[in-house]
Amino acid sequence: MPKIISSQELDNRIGEICKELQLGHCIGLPTETVYGLAADATNGQAVARIFEMKGRPKFNPLIIHVANLDMAEEYGTFNALARQLADAFWPGPLTLVVPRRADTGLSELVSAGLGTVGIRCPKGLAREIIASFGRPLAAPSANKSGKVSPTAASHVAQQFEGTDLMIADNGVCEVGLESTIAKVEDEIITILRPGLVTADMIQDATGKEPEISKSQTIEAPGMMKSHYAPNANVKLNCNTVEDGAAFLAFGQVSIDTSCGCTVYNLSKSGDLREAAANLYLGLKTLDETGTDMICVSPIPHEGLGIAINDRLQRASAPRKP
Ligand code: TXA
Ligand code: MG
Repeated sequence: MPKIISSQELDNRIGEICKELQLGHCIGLPTETVYGLAADATNGQAVARIFEMKGRPKFNPLIIHVANLDMAEEYGTFNALARQLADAFWPGPLTLVVPRRADTGLSELVSAGLGTVGIRCPKGLAREIIASFGRPLAAPSANKSGKVSPTAASHVAQQFEGTDLMIADNGVCEVGLESTIAKVEDEIITILRPGLVTADMIQDATGKEPEISKSQTIEAPGMMKSHYAPNANVKLNCNTVEDGAAFLAFGQVSIDTSCGCTVYNLSKSGDLREAAANLYLGLKTLDETGTDMICVSPIPHEGLGIAINDRLQRASAPRKP
């Protein structure tokens, strides 16, 4: 059974968590975005265990999490533009994809053969653990490959029941959606995955308008078409609910619930930030009713709504058999 370390105990048990990492084991790591399945990024076997536990395709590279820009620069090459982005948004939900430095001791598996590495400096407890451990942690979201990302320690425990994974419980994740991924190549910024840090925020910080990646497969292989998928099928932009379906609502919706359908409202006041934080919990809650269809309200396609719609589109994409 997974071992959950409660938030009250965390301060006194960071040493124990680091010991687990030292042994090459994975841990459940709370970050401000989602929970990660983390291991020592310089230990090849530990990184291989992440792929194994997640059932993740090997070609999909992992993000490394660092305590600060100095640690980041040991593993990746930061030009002035990448530094400017790190200064503006770290610690926080922005991953920077930069050229990977050679011979740093970073596991080869981390970047899955690419010449680049994705690096981010998370906020809060995750950062404290990394600083205390002294080495970067490779961490994908702590879900089985292709499934909904966990935003609470109990969701991680559910995904990995039957293992003895140590999970640091730091409550519900503040952001609730994975980090924005931005690739920096010379003077060009390309957003590979939308998130809380929007294109406008990046432009305000750097004076450069980022490009938006159209690539579905190569740049961020995690952007595979069907991703973040609950068991139920997902139908978007619904203003009515089909018979037997559950409803993931947004804002003040008036729908006929006389059919007895279960409704989860992402944000009754229509707040996108609140909706992002509730998205995965909402999908999971409705999925657990056993319904085979989740109908979703239209979500405004602006600001954080772009990231929410990105995840919902993937959740609704045709599944591999
Ligand atoms: O918020 C987050 O980013 C969370 C928390 C745990 O930090 N992590 C996360 O990791 O979402 P993961 O593995 O689920 O998604 C990472 C994405 C994948 O789509 C992967 O393909 C992409 O980042 N990625 C990682 N390294 C890359 C690289 N060098 N070039 C392009 N894409 C990369
Ligand atoms: Mg993921």
